[in-house]
Amino acid sequence: MNRIILSLVVSCIFPLLAVEYKVRDYKYLIEKMPKIDSGLQEIHFKLYEGYVNQVNLLNKLLENMGADSAFTFQAIKRQMGWEFDGMVLHELFFSNLGGDGKLSPNSVTSKKIKQQWGSYEKWMEEFKETCNERGIGWTILYYDPDKDLLINAWISEHSTGLFATATPLLVVDLWEHAYLCQFKTDRNKYVDTVFEYIDWGVVNDRMKNAPFSSRAKELRKERGDQMSLVEKTLPAKS
Ligand SMILES: [Fe+2]
Repeated sequence: MNRIILSLVVSCIFPLLAVEYKVRDYKYLIEKMPKIDSGLQEIHFKLYEGYVNQVNLLNKLLENMGADSAFTFQAIKRQMGWEFDGMVLHELFFSNLGGDGKLSPNSVTSKKIKQQWGSYEKWMEEFKETCNERGIGWTILYYDPDKDLLINAWISEHSTGLFATATPLLVVDLWEHAYLCQFKTDRNKYVDTVFEYIDWGVVNDRMKNAPFSSRAKELRKERGDQMSLVEKTLPAKS
């Protein structure tokens, strides 16, 4: 990029957009998830805090960067996605924990799972098998409002393979730091324990809001307002 243009971008435009992300407090989970070691949880919260700090640091570096830093600018932009997704995926993960692991059969998520897989057990089997993917990353249950479809997906690291515009409903951390200290290499036992603490109320709320995202509204308009199962279940939103 031309240095003059870069200078304008960095010194004039970016500071207007700079924001500081706050570390969210998930310490309440220690009491709500007694089968997951409190020390392991505290380490995990600290690691999450690191992602928030890194995002803020990168934004600060961009804000204060000089006009002769095109290489640094590009490197920061490349790194930002990894740090940002690391921050947000942890927030989605911690937020969908702390529940009793019970999915109400009358919930829209349960109905949609049964429509696609036939039963909760069959969906769970596929989700847990996805958690067994080799390597570090995340398993995510997505809702795609375009096709009115649930998807069990594997995401490598934080940012490889994310499904653009699909809404993450249930997120499970499969990095080794999430379980190794307590569960050793028994990833299945860790996933089984996580399932005992899923807050399906949170998952259900995410699904109920998904069809009303700006992208979903565009798609609904394009397909002639055909309603998805989720939309039929919910009162219309403006
Ligand atoms: Fe993690």
